[in-house]
Amino acid sequence: MVRSTGQNSHSSAHGWHDAASRLRHATNDCLGFPSYNGFAPGELDFLLGLPINNIGDPFLTSRSGTHLHDLERDVLSKISLLAGLPDTNVRGYVTSGSTEAVIHALHLGRDTLKMGGAPKPVIIASDQCHGCVVKAARLLDTPFIQVASAPDGSIDINSFAATLAHHAENPCLVVATAGTTFLGAIDRTDLMVQALETTHRGRYRLHVDAALGGFLLPYTQASGWNLETGGHSYSVSGHKMIGVPVPCGIVIWEHDAYHLPKDHLDYLCGPDTTLTGSRSGLAVGALWLALHQWPANRLAEQAHGCLDRAAILVELLTQAGWPAHRGKYSTTVMFPSPPVDVCTRWQLPTEGNLAHVVVTPRVDRTLLDRFIASLGTGPGISSGFLPDRPKLR
Ligand SMILES: Cc1ncc(COP(=O)(O)O)c(C=O)c1O
Repeated sequence: MVRSTGQNSHSSAHGWHDAASRLRHATNDCLGFPSYNGFAPGELDFLLGLPINNIGDPFLTSRSGTHLHDLERDVLSKISLLAGLPDTNVRGYVTSGSTEAVIHALHLGRDTLKMGGAPKPVIIASDQCHGCVVKAARLLDTPFIQVASAPDGSIDINSFAATLAHHAENPCLVVATAGTTFLGAIDRTDLMVQALETTHRGRYRLHVDAALGGFLLPYTQASGWNLETGGHSYSVSGHKMIGVPVPCGIVIWEHDAYHLPKDHLDYLCGPDTTLTGSRSGLAVGALWLALHQWPANRLAEQAHGCLDRAAILVELLTQAGWPAHRGKYSTTVMFPSPPVDVCTRWQLPTEGNLAHVVVTPRVDRTLLDRFIASLGTGPGISSGFLPDRPKLR
């Protein structure tokens, strides 16, 4: 309820009502963007009632007491295991989202690789990497080298190896993506590490951006997607598959893989190692509840449910005359872009001639049936619509 004592009270209450109603509808019908609220009513009440600020490095003892740094360290340990690292040797923090996580990892990597007067590093990722990698390259004033992707959207390993050979003199900051933003493709970290060890042993850092796949792939048979076979840092979004109702991400790295900033901030009682200062305690608390209090098999069941419904969506689209495709371990379903009013109604991002739906735990069969009913008959089955895709990012 909005209360106002001024003369605009009627219009402000009206504005709030309109915004709330629009938001409710938009939330119900959102199929293309993977954020949602995965928490039961009341589950986060305790956290919402307090001004929790996880300011600074969760491994430091700050003067402030209104933080959940202890729970944040538990969250990092859990993520470490999912990422394929031991849970005891990890550093990192809960970020504002995956963009901050990737920028931070590349920032630490650039400063680490530049030490000792080494040549300037270059950032290398596929043409399907998220735009935050390009943004990071710009912010860090570091050249960005784009590698071609294979038809399924994963990095083309031969092109990657050729790019490394071409930049053999420069240390490399490489980003692998575990679930690309538009196609849901998975870069093979294991093969990338093999190539890096051939040309750049000891002179590279590999970050895995698992914004979308980080809470999906651990529960599948997918291989070579995380740090188990090499690599140094890893990030995942908290608002996508888990459904933390505020945007957030988690970045972790192997302790000692990076040199951290040394600038000392007195009020933090230690070095200023995080990119942002004040950080969301609500996000940390919600992540901790999901990872430590929810039934142990809940995330796995959610992941399998999403994969099953993504497979059903491919069938439903195909039956309706819309050629559709998804990767084996992906909940992202692509199809030829429908008319713009349909894309607007269901909030479908488009790239070139393609649109996609990302199946999250809130996208149930009823919603999929409503979507299919609104689509009408498709353009008919044609093979090979994927290779025509333009450069997507
Ligand atoms: C692979 C990947 N990386 C990074 C991001 C950026 O995430 P955020 O919006 O949380 O900053 C996204 C967002 O969709 C993504 O799909």
